[in-house]
Amino acid sequence: MIIDGKKEAEVLREEIKKEITSIKNKTNKVPGLAVILIGDFVPSQIYVRNKEKSSKEVGINSSVIKYSKDVSEDEILKKIIELNNDKNVSGILVQLPLPDQISKEKVINSIDPLKDVDGFSPTNVGNLASGYDAIVPCTPLGCLMLLKKVEKNLSGKHAVIIGRSNLNGKPIAQLLLKENCTVTITHSKTKNLKEKCLKADILIVAVGLANLVKKDWVKDGSIIIDVGINKQGDKIVGDVSFEEVKDKAKAITPVPGGVGPMTIACLLKNTLECFKKLN
Ligand code: GUN
Repeated sequence: MIIDGKKEAEVLREEIKKEITSIKNKTNKVPGLAVILIGDFVPSQIYVRNKEKSSKEVGINSSVIKYSKDVSEDEILKKIIELNNDKNVSGILVQLPLPDQISKEKVINSIDPLKDVDGFSPTNVGNLASGYDAIVPCTPLGCLMLLKKVEKNLSGKHAVIIGRSNLNGKPIAQLLLKENCTVTITHSKTKNLKEKCLKADILIVAVGLANLVKKDWVKDGSIIIDVGINKQGDKIVGDVSFEEVKDKAKAITPVPGGVGPMTIACLLKNTLECFKKLN
């Protein structure tokens, strides 16, 4: 089975759109998303454009605040405080990476955790790790939703994650622990990676190495979620050698068209959830 992330994202976006329409009819209010984009890094510009377009399509009032790459840290922190206090803003997202003069830690820490639609603030990270109610980072949430389309009950499954980033690997591990999976987190210093992957009922790959996972790394009947987005010539490929692995897996996400579309749909979901909690 090939997991159709594009279709699932569309279903989720339709649900969100319906709910926002109904809220608007009752209250004349809609969620607001403020995105801060610094500099001229092309992938960030593309991501932000897609976030803005999708937000508008579901009825979220989205604004992009752009700064040149030499903007000061103070100016960004001041803007974040202003957005924290703005009643029309339900979600704040500062697109990463940031230029060197701006501390990622300071920026993330300054966003009101109730408006932190990325789920990056220490409050949300801590709440997720403690098993409390938290805003969950968008890509990990998208991965879990796709997994649940294949298997409702993940309890007792052995999940192996390749990658330990704050953005993906760590929050995915926390989510799967909450689902009662047995979780192994692997990374660049892990020994015998292939053997560990072969034990996985669920394999999540989030490292950014094109075609790292080959056919002889995966167990028959496993579920594979490929978070990688890598440029290879003029093609986008994942971290898994899709063509050779797809017939061995019970289910697998393609790249593109797997996790990617779910990430943006989950950002819209997080923005709506923030709005509901704040209103
Ligand atoms: N840069 C790449 N992915 C992300 C993301 O999910 N959120 C933010 N804020 N920046 C990113």
